[in-house]
This record gives sequence, structure tokens and C-alpha cells, in this order.
Amino acid sequence: MKYIIGNWKTNPNTLSEAKEIVKEVKRVANKAVLGGVQPIICPPNVYLSSLATNTTKLVFGVQDVWLNNDNSETGANSALLSKNLGAQVAIIGHSEARARGDTNEVISKKLLNAVKTGFTAVLCVGEISRDSKATYYSEVATQLRESLEGFPASKLVSLIIAYEPVWAIGDKAKSAASPTDFYEMAMLMRRTLTEQFPKDKAFNIPLLYGGSVDKKNAKSFLDIGADGLLIGRSSLKTKDFVEIIDCAITPKKK
Ligand code: PGA
Repeated sequence: MKYIIGNWKTNPNTLSEAKEIVKEVKRVANKAVLGGVQPIICPPNVYLSSLATNTTKLVFGVQDVWLNNDNSETGANSALLSKNLGAQVAIIGHSEARARGDTNEVISKKLLNAVKTGFTAVLCVGEISRDSKATYYSEVATQLRESLEGFPASKLVSLIIAYEPVWAIGDKAKSAASPTDFYEMAMLMRRTLTEQFPKDKAFNIPLLYGGSVDKKNAKSFLDIGADGLLIGRSSLKTKDFVEIIDCAITPKKK
């Protein structure tokens, strides 16, 4: 299965726009799942209950969850409450959440809470910038090791990892990473995971790419072996998002 995840961040500005995008994506969701692609939309939480229904193959997620499911956390996004509204996937450790103060230690707790609550967690990792000494490999390996500290091997079936180099994210980015950048980092991530977890389980964790994915470059990441894509801006352009889902579908052999 390939995962095409839309990370809407704090968009769109109105619920009616959100409903419009969801309506179009729902149209292709069945065909996508039959073709080995799981489309997932992570809207802002305030829209979740108006959008998430169990009537199609389109899966909904949240963009963060809190460390625990206590009921006295003003302003926190409870994993349990989101789950009860129909969310099944939780993005954790996005660079924008890291920039707001989420450390690897905090992320490890959020991950544990997410999977214990029944979510599939999408752990985001990625270096802030690249230097000629290639220290970014150890930066990402450390993020992985520390964020997955104490993560039970039995829950690895509920884990997806997205490599999102910070320098490639958002409208200030010059460009996406190259498919080769992704491939090399995926090898490093796979090796790091096999050092921490049983090999057979570590090899099955889906590795996604995210950062300036658009309808033009999406396929090149999938072709080089990405198990899916985490998409910001292009997931809000309905036609583009549908086109990306479409390009991920494996054509049936005749
Ligand atoms: P972008 O965002 O596709 O707009 O670069 C990706 C992300 O932040 O997950």
C-alpha cells in the first residue's frame, strides 16, 4: 500500500472550502484503495467532525496529538477525542511542531500515546539544512533513535515515517529534495531502524517523502521507492492532489 497524505496545516479558511476538496477526493478514494493507494487527509482539528465519515475509503487524520489522554489539558489536542471523531492517523513531530518546541523526547511520548490510542502514527524527521560534511545523516538518525526510544516493536505495524527535509518544506523552499536525496536518506533510515528493532519488522515500516511535492515531481519519488508522500500545499489544490493520487496507482497487469 502507498500512502498519499494531505497535510492541510491551518488551511483552508472556511469549512465549505474544506468540504469541497473532500468531496472530490472521496470520488477517487475507492478506486485508489483498489489500486493500492490509501489517500489520507489531515485537516485542522476544528473541521474533523464535519468531514470525517466512515462512508468511503478516504481516511482522516490529525496533525498532532497530546502526550496523554488526561481530561485536564487546556488547549491540547487529545488523541482519544480525535479518535472518537473518526481520525485514524496522527502526524507527529512535524518540523513546524518541532519549531514550536517539540523535542524528540516529547515526540516519543506523543507517538506512544497515539499508537496506544489506536492511531497509525506518521513520524516526521528531517534535517534543517544541508552542509558539505553531510552531518545531516547523523541529525536524522538521532531524531529517529530518540523519537522512537521505548517504542514497542509490537506497535511497529502502526508506524509510518516521513522524511521531510525542512529546507524543502513550504513556499520559502527553493525546491523539493531530489529523488536521490530521498533514496540515500531512506537507506540510512532503514539501517538506523534495523539497529533499534527486529530486522523483519524494521524493513516493513513505510518510508514516505515530504517537502514541496507537486503533481510534476510526485511520481519520481514513488518510482525510486518511496512508500508514499506527505503533501502540504498541493493537497489543497484539489485537481493536483487527485492527480498525485492517480499517479500512485499501480496499473493492473494485462
Ligand atoms: P509542502 O509541505 O508540501 O507545502 O512543502 C509539506 C509538509 O509540511 O508536510
